[in-house]
Amino acid sequence: MTDRTATLTFSDGTGPVTFPLLTGNIGPDVIDIRTLYTKTGKFTYDPGFLSTAACSSAITYIDGDKGELLYRGYPIEELAVKCDYLEVCYLLLYGELPTAKQKEDFVDVVTHHTMVNEQMQFFMRGFRRDAHPMAVLTGMVGALSAFYPDSINVHDARQRDISAHRLIAKMPTLVAMAYKYSVGQPYMYPRNDLSYTGNFMRMMFATPCEDYKVKDVLVRALDRIFILHADHEQNASTSTVRLCASSGTNPFAAIAAGVACLWGPAHGGANEAALNMLYDIQKEGGVAKIGDFIAKAKDKNSNVRLMGFGHRVYKNYDPRAKLMRETCYEVLDELGLGDDPLFKLAMALEKIALEDDYFVSRKLYPNVDFYSGIVQKAIGIPVSLFTAIFAVARTVGWIAQLNEMVSDPEYKIGRPRQLFTGSTRRSVPPLEKR
Ligand code: CMC
Repeated sequence: MTDRTATLTFSDGTGPVTFPLLTGNIGPDVIDIRTLYTKTGKFTYDPGFLSTAACSSAITYIDGDKGELLYRGYPIEELAVKCDYLEVCYLLLYGELPTAKQKEDFVDVVTHHTMVNEQMQFFMRGFRRDAHPMAVLTGMVGALSAFYPDSINVHDARQRDISAHRLIAKMPTLVAMAYKYSVGQPYMYPRNDLSYTGNFMRMMFATPCEDYKVKDVLVRALDRIFILHADHEQNASTSTVRLCASSGTNPFAAIAAGVACLWGPAHGGANEAALNMLYDIQKEGGVAKIGDFIAKAKDKNSNVRLMGFGHRVYKNYDPRAKLMRETCYEVLDELGLGDDPLFKLAMALEKIALEDDYFVSRKLYPNVDFYSGIVQKAIGIPVSLFTAIFAVARTVGWIAQLNEMVSDPEYKIGRPRQLFTGSTRRSVPPLEKR
């Protein structure tokens, strides 16, 4: 709280009203307009939340102009090279990096929650084999509340903690099951001697006939994808989770809502859309056709966007995209795919877009999804599973934000208002007169 204020004046006779100006530790100040309606009978209008802070949060900070991303104060560039994904999960959930002992205990507890109730296999069987993995995942995550009813009370801190461990641990198992189901292979049970990410890769790629030798460079790459996607403050899916959980529903149901929101191509679905876009350009002629594609992306009537480019908050290079591009080099080099035509096409496309006035003037830079698809493809992950990988990674962010909201003394059910533009009151005419 500060003693600084903001005064709003009106041209319609409503008297000036004054509101407190709140200051965060970093970032823009916010005007606390919670009493606006009671003082003036007016709402604010901000579709898409362009200027609205819906909560206070101490988890993730983004400076979109600088291209800076901090989890609990630590820069993403440092976390990506000095920590593994489970350390980052601990940091997001509990506020501090774990000590060696805390890390050991946390890894142990997550590792021992990776199996899912055997009955979930039968639930999975209800899906068509060609269902999109995000359709399957939305259903399976929602179903967790039916299989684990002992950890669904969102107001009980211990139950929230157990559901957090369950969700972080079981999400890779569910995604691997969705994949195995889609290709008609038997499910692979988790193995506790492997790392979180190594175990996921084995559940994806091993079969009962042939084990999968987990390659360190690929584990590191996927672990980095998980770290880079772990949280991103009040994005669409996180806001969905917060709004959903604000009704007091259980954490599994709220995270299922987050999965559903993430699926959209403007959000988590962009990694799949970005790789498909590169394939399309390649099919049409590759680098030589970039100009035509850029022209379409600039044409407002075409409905085409340069996928993996642009961001609501970053008006500079997305720091995650830089790290992802680095990983791309490392993985493709290690696999002897340095000449990968898709990677070359992506770099050429990036270069041309970054020199084009349309993208420059709108501050449209590559985002994390521009390169993550190429890395995932090199790992062997099918394109349709990319967004599900994002969901695995983001689960911890969703839970950390949900926990923060429920523990906030100012927490209330989320209930936006509206500017009504429909019919005013009228009476129902009889059927023959309509
Ligand atoms: N290609 C072409 N034009 C674009 C693009 C793009 N990728 N992104 C934005 N624009 C244009 C847009 O047409 C508008 O132009 P104008 O001012 O002339 O009407 C201007 O840039 C501002 O765009 P906006 O849609 O008002 O911006 P937004 O903040 O509402 O949207 C976005 C942000 C990420 C949805 C958008 O940039 C986009 O659709 N990008 C492609 C999808 C994508 O890569 N999404 C992943 C986001 S990062 C991962 C995640 O967090 O989920």
